[in-house]
Amino acid sequence: MEKQVDIDWGKLGFAYMKTDYRYICSWKDGKWGEGELVEDNMLRISESSAALHYGQQCFEGLKAYRRKDGKIQLFRPDQNAKRLNSSCRRLLMPELPEEIFIDACKKVVQANEKYVPPYGTGATLYLRPFVIGVGDNLGVKPAPEFLFCVFCVPVGAYFKGGLAPVNFMVSDYDRAAPYGTGAAKVGGNYAASMLPHEIAVKKGFADCIYLDPATHTNIEEVGAANFFGITKDNKFVTPFSESILPSITKYSLMHVAKEYLGLPVEERDVPIDRLDDFAEAGACGTAAVITPIGGIEHKGSLHVFFSETEVGPVTRKLYDTLCGIQFGDVEAPEGWIVEV
Ligand code: PLP
Ligand code: COI
Repeated sequence: MEKQVDIDWGKLGFAYMKTDYRYICSWKDGKWGEGELVEDNMLRISESSAALHYGQQCFEGLKAYRRKDGKIQLFRPDQNAKRLNSSCRRLLMPELPEEIFIDACKKVVQANEKYVPPYGTGATLYLRPFVIGVGDNLGVKPAPEFLFCVFCVPVGAYFKGGLAPVNFMVSDYDRAAPYGTGAAKVGGNYAASMLPHEIAVKKGFADCIYLDPATHTNIEEVGAANFFGITKDNKFVTPFSESILPSITKYSLMHVAKEYLGLPVEERDVPIDRLDDFAEAGACGTAAVITPIGGIEHKGSLHVFFSETEVGPVTRKLYDTLCGIQFGDVEAPEGWIVEV
């Protein structure tokens, strides 16, 4: 690819950068209008928008990957479209046809092609689709109008170090409630996570681990990522709960573990007092990819898994296979890859 932008791809972290085009589409009078690509990265909305006051908004995160042959592909965008609609249903926002979602993502990638990092740099183009409630409104009720937008930013590792282990601490706070909005990708969950995140970072941890909000006995999430562990007898285990975000990476890893690596897979309670069962552990998500968990601090002591500095062998195989599929080097299960 001809280098047209001055970006040190290998040094990218996870930070906003204005790219050239974004997609915007509005919902009025009961229907979605014609979407378009625009250059302006500012939104002009009513000061009384429900998204601003009552958190009536949701978002998604997915990536575009540059393959070795130079072509670009999206990883399971249909799953993001479905999850966006499930978040919309939870917050009484209008659902968006899956084709519009995928078409918008493709258009944004095509229009910003020069920002798609070259193959081999490890960097990707992160897409951030979102729906917000806008229009004049004062009472706590659904907005009269909505916007669906998608912007994109080239990114590197979310957690410092990429495939290097980092430590997490168990938080005393909850990010979501039982029967609340934990399974929806809505801003309120993230607002609730900022203070616990800051506390964890100030103590020298990458982020915090949330326990289940009903009993505080089981692991739920690892900051903005899901948890997985590899048991000492080589099973892939990940928490089941109604209040965690159904991670597309985690469901993909469950498939990879079973079908590509031949590991038994369990989605079940993961008691915080049974960390000893695991030989390895990791955080997984679109932004986090797979981040090995070195150790978890709970009640004043640090439980170290495989190592605080080395990546465990199963975690590495999962990482290599998942990234191989995402970057087009390993054959993907049917329907997982959409060429741009
Ligand atoms: N959990 C939370 C709270 C998240 O924000 C994310 C990121 O999207 C995930 C889990 C991982 O989900 P996914 O793999 O779909 O990106
Ligand atoms: C993602 O992985 O897409 C996320 O949404 C994490 C993000 C909140 C940084």
